[in-house]
Amino acid sequence: MADGPINKTEGKVGGIVIRDDWPGYRLDLFTYPEHYSGDLECVYLPHGIIMDRTERLARNIMDDIGDHDIVVLCVLKGGYQFCVDLVEYIKALSRNSNKSLLMRVDFIRLKSYLNDQSTEDLHIVGGEDLSVLTEKNVLIVEAVVDTGKTMKALLKHVETFRPKMVKVAGLLVKRVASGMGSLPDYVGFEIPNRFVVGYALDYNEYFRDLNHICVISERGKIKYKI
Ligand code: HPA
Ligand code: MG
Repeated sequence: MADGPINKTEGKVGGIVIRDDWPGYRLDLFTYPEHYSGDLECVYLPHGIIMDRTERLARNIMDDIGDHDIVVLCVLKGGYQFCVDLVEYIKALSRNSNKSLLMRVDFIRLKSYLNDQSTEDLHIVGGEDLSVLTEKNVLIVEAVVDTGKTMKALLKHVETFRPKMVKVAGLLVKRVASGMGSLPDYVGFEIPNRFVVGYALDYNEYFRDLNHICVISERGKIKYKI
């Protein structure tokens, strides 16, 4: 792992930068569910560092918008774990400061991946009536942003409900050649364009029950292919 900005994407990407040559940690240095043995290549981001980085993002968010009530919009399914942990840290900060932050949590479900490939379109496949966002300060919480196209489409959709303000927190931003999409305001990690699983990120619905963010092995890809 390395720090310092080496992102190729333009604009406001930040976060901990994971370089292209980062090999990850050997699996035997950590614990993970027995049922995935042989299905993983390495531990890419251990659970602990994800939590620590998320705690800091919560502080940045509180510093910026902690004076306003917010509606957290969790992008399912992959964003659920990041959203839970981020909201917990925001709540803890709110308790320990004299800011009393009213938070609502809503959900939107998007789907754009089959196997490890992105499909072109934004599919909103469920979620609540987003009219709750009108005149509100909205924090969109998303696990992975790669081209940013999905985020751009989602922002456009959210804007139609005329929120007062919209910020985006993304746990992972992938360095991809094709920019043009929208990037998060708060970034956990900037990573190479690799497919990762765990911490609620899936490969065909598997691996969400893995705490660390890992790279899937060829065997794992074949085993869970559809
Ligand atoms: N893993 C899981 N889901 C994803 C990814 C990924 O790397 N990128 C976009 N959706
Ligand atoms: Mg998925």
